[in-house]
Amino acid sequence: MNILLLGSGGREHALSWKLAQSPLLDKLYGAPGNPGIADHAQIVGLDLTDHAAVVTFCEGHRIGLVVVGPEAPLVDGLSDSLRTAGFSVFGPSRVAAQLEGSKGFTKDLCTRANIPTAGYVRASSLQEARATLARFGAPVVIKADGLAAGKGVVVAMTMAEAEAAVDDMFDGAFGAAGAEVVIEEFMTGEEASFFALTDGATIVPFGSAQDHKRVGDGDTGPNTGGMGAYSPARVLTPELEAETLARIIGPTVKTMADEGMPYSGVLYAGLMLTEQGPKLIEYNARFGDPECQVLLMRFEGDLVELLLACADNKLSSIEPPRFSADVAMTVVMAAEGYPGTPKKGGRIDHIPAAEVGGAKVFHAGTTLSGDGILSASGGRVLNVTAKGPTVKAARDTAYAAVDAISFPEGFCRRDIGWREIEREESQG
Ligand code: AMP
Ligand code: GLY
Repeated sequence: MNILLLGSGGREHALSWKLAQSPLLDKLYGAPGNPGIADHAQIVGLDLTDHAAVVTFCEGHRIGLVVVGPEAPLVDGLSDSLRTAGFSVFGPSRVAAQLEGSKGFTKDLCTRANIPTAGYVRASSLQEARATLARFGAPVVIKADGLAAGKGVVVAMTMAEAEAAVDDMFDGAFGAAGAEVVIEEFMTGEEASFFALTDGATIVPFGSAQDHKRVGDGDTGPNTGGMGAYSPARVLTPELEAETLARIIGPTVKTMADEGMPYSGVLYAGLMLTEQGPKLIEYNARFGDPECQVLLMRFEGDLVELLLACADNKLSSIEPPRFSADVAMTVVMAAEGYPGTPKKGGRIDHIPAAEVGGAKVFHAGTTLSGDGILSASGGRVLNVTAKGPTVKAARDTAYAAVDAISFPEGFCRRDIGWREIEREESQG
């Protein structure tokens, strides 16, 4: 089978690496791709906003499955255009992708399906938002309704911060994404991410992970798209996972199907593990980046078979996904300046040497020049990923690989996995 993989980050490099291991794959195409994806796929220059061009490409290359990596094409309805043309697609429809594309949509769904989440109010004017803040008090959380590249959330510890945040959003800081806001009660607890694949009827768990959102060691500094992750997140115990499936994922999938918006693809739940049990923080309609890298490092099945079964409503007829008992960790190497303005062009060497010890280096934001020189072209540049019997072992392998890479204009956090390593040490 020929497959078209859409996207250009570390998540898609990991997907391409795993898809390429399947005996079911004939030829993999990647658009727009990156130099890491190019190791496994033929790179094609497609504009993902031009649905007709993507459909024409699929028709011309006998594509049996399209795998959509990032959220923007999903929210833009690319899956619908491809399905209408008769193609199998891994990724939800435009209406189903509202679970990521509109925070207010998801909160209202939680209300209808009685899903545990923070109390909230949707506000579509500054006046309404200010009045709501006055009722909620601080601390409080303010979210732009639409897609804002992970930047549309302000956790305000004081009323002054909260008021500044709503002023900014209604002033257009996030463009159309901020024309409506969700104001939420502040929840406390540890965060964990849980992943499930669903074809709209059958649900299969796909593992858990914990991300590190702040740029600096000790969880300091501004928020990023994620500076590292590990899987599994053992704070999400089997009991809490069962509760998450029963009270959050199950009712979501059922309600979406009952309301004529069946969700197909991966459902990525951001959870707050509160004293009252897991509560939904938000959904994403795609794999996490870099969470996907650690999930796939542990996944032991055939990814083509799994994603195709999901796309074709056949999840109930295949074996559930199998995972290694090992822990996987990924460390993000970013370009100086990230998450502000990252410095482009920093030279990168010695990736093959870094992989000798068993680590895998996924490309997230790199370019390869005509004379074979690899350099940084994005904020998050490399995802150095390793596996081991303990978090500490995975970490040691990952950081040994980080240290073998030469990227003078890059940096990384040195403490990925610290919470779990502390727990490992306290349990001896
Ligand atoms: P989101 O993009 O909705 O996942 O929010 C980004 C981050 O903001 C989350 O990972 C949490 O750390 C924090 N956050 C979001 N909503 C809440 C909430 N209601 N209470 C506390 N923290 C929150
Ligand atoms: N790492 C967070 C995300 O993919 O949204």
